[in-house]
Amino acid sequence: MAMIAHLSDVHFGAHDPRIVDALEALLPALRPDLVVISGDFTQRARVEQYRMACGFVDRIEQAGLAVLAVPGNHDIPLYDVARRFARPLHRYRRYIDEELCPWFETDEIAVLGINTARSLTFKDGRISHEQMALIRERFREVSPGKTRILVTHHPLFAMPIGESEGLTKTVGRRGEALEAIGAAGVHLLLAGHFHHAYSRSAREMVETAGPELVIQAGTATSTRVRGDETQSFNWIDIPAPERVELTVFGWTGTGFERGRAVPFAFDGRLWRQESIPA
Ligand SMILES: [Fe+2]
Ligand SMILES: [Fe+2]
Repeated sequence: MAMIAHLSDVHFGAHDPRIVDALEALLPALRPDLVVISGDFTQRARVEQYRMACGFVDRIEQAGLAVLAVPGNHDIPLYDVARRFARPLHRYRRYIDEELCPWFETDEIAVLGINTARSLTFKDGRISHEQMALIRERFREVSPGKTRILVTHHPLFAMPIGESEGLTKTVGRRGEALEAIGAAGVHLLLAGHFHHAYSRSAREMVETAGPELVIQAGTATSTRVRGDETQSFNWIDIPAPERVELTVFGWTGTGFERGRAVPFAFDGRLWRQESIPA
């Protein structure tokens, strides 16, 4: 049994301090095995924003929780062109994590983070061939009973957002990346970027996709929310291998409200959403 709190797009500099305080009180009480933060720690990669993000991560760790982080596009300076190309993630490595592709493993789960933020394709992100090799290599040694989880900032699958906006963009070199992910036997794909909480079996989104379950987090603390969506984070309960219960905690204006747990089961070919008991 493993429990993961999946936060994303905390955007310090454009954050709501009340939500940050609420999260810092709630997370230690929930006691997840791992807190995943899937990128966009800051609004504009400024030092003061990184300091706030660093304080947030430090306080979570000081409460005894493990944190796995990957950078997002907002963690690379946009307007400071010299810094953007010469030292794009220097501040991220100083204030958040030296490691851009972190690894976390217990008896139940194996989690790999991949940095998809790039200076050139600022908004859209990409996975490199070295990172694809890392995905294959890292999961090769993992024993079969463990749930294998890959974390990126940019989503690997396009999803619908709103009525008229069509499908979202996906990370660059997606086809090759999905082959590596399939070969590595990854079960769950965690990402953020679109400030939209969403989950679906990959194969239901793309016919030729692997069997992964796609889990997107909304923004946890940013004041920039999408449409009528509120700030949120995902609670991922893994009661047994090939079983997941996903719960979205949504911000009500005064606190986080726990949503309904949505159970998924892997049938060897596909993750299927199971019916929710009334
Ligand atoms: Fe974001
Ligand atoms: Fe982003």
